[in-house]
Amino acid sequence: MTTNYDPIAEQYKLSKQQPWRTHIEAYSLLQLVGNPAGMSVLDVACGEGFYTRLLRQQGAAKVTGVDLSQGMIDLARRQEVLHQQGIDYLVGDAKNLELPHQYDLVVAAYLLNYAQDRQELAAMARGIARCLKPGGRFVTVNSNPALEFSSAPSYRQYGFETTIRGEFCEGTPITWTFFLENDQFDIENYYLNVELHEAAFRAAGFRETRWHSPRLSPQGLSEYGADFWIPFTTHPPVAFIECVK
Ligand SMILES: C[S@@+](CC[C@H](N)C(=O)[O-])C[C@H]1O[C@@H](n2cnc3c(N)ncnc32)[C@H](O)[C@@H]1O
Repeated sequence: MTTNYDPIAEQYKLSKQQPWRTHIEAYSLLQLVGNPAGMSVLDVACGEGFYTRLLRQQGAAKVTGVDLSQGMIDLARRQEVLHQQGIDYLVGDAKNLELPHQYDLVVAAYLLNYAQDRQELAAMARGIARCLKPGGRFVTVNSNPALEFSSAPSYRQYGFETTIRGEFCEGTPITWTFFLENDQFDIENYYLNVELHEAAFRAAGFRETRWHSPRLSPQGLSEYGADFWIPFTTHPPVAFIECVK
């Protein structure tokens, strides 16, 4: 199991093609982002730049991607060389981000669930708040802090499963196993509850926090039918959060 993305960067990229990624993850996240045209946007835990590129394509004026993994940043930069979009990519840790610029919007897809305890979560929230202008927004998707993963249903039909080891409490590892065509790989992240998230955001200086359930794209509904999405939407393994500084 790993939280180090260097060895799984290519497999992770393939997992982004699973239908729930398009019809729930990306659809919900981009709806929450709204129209980024003209904004300066920082994508923290940008990975190989999946959302970083989308945000730039949607008209964001200045886009920066930051990730802890040199392997992920190398992949992102390779894309930038092939199709130049004017995105800057940096290796950095969300817990001690100090950038020369404050952004209108910070986006983070699957960052906060790497905090192993409340102190790490608070450090990430502070790092993000430091990078935002007053009034700026932080929009994020993570493993769902409101889901009791110990009794979650099977998500195999979507191409992944979640499992936990031991007691379900602060810092319990959640293993996400992704099934690809001829391959599978594991990612490990950590459970921290809703209250700990809200406390971390407040302490970092966010004045408002809103929780959002996953939204299903109209295309996802018509292509797969309503029944297909029921386990996902009744026990959402991911949650979307929006904070205002
Ligand atoms: C599941 S990937 C998500 C990548 C990308 N946001 C996406 O949705 O495709 C999680 C990323 O978080 C990065 N990460 C984990 N902890 C981090 C930290 N403290 N600071 C910055 N990036 C971090 C990992 O290196 C990895 O690339």
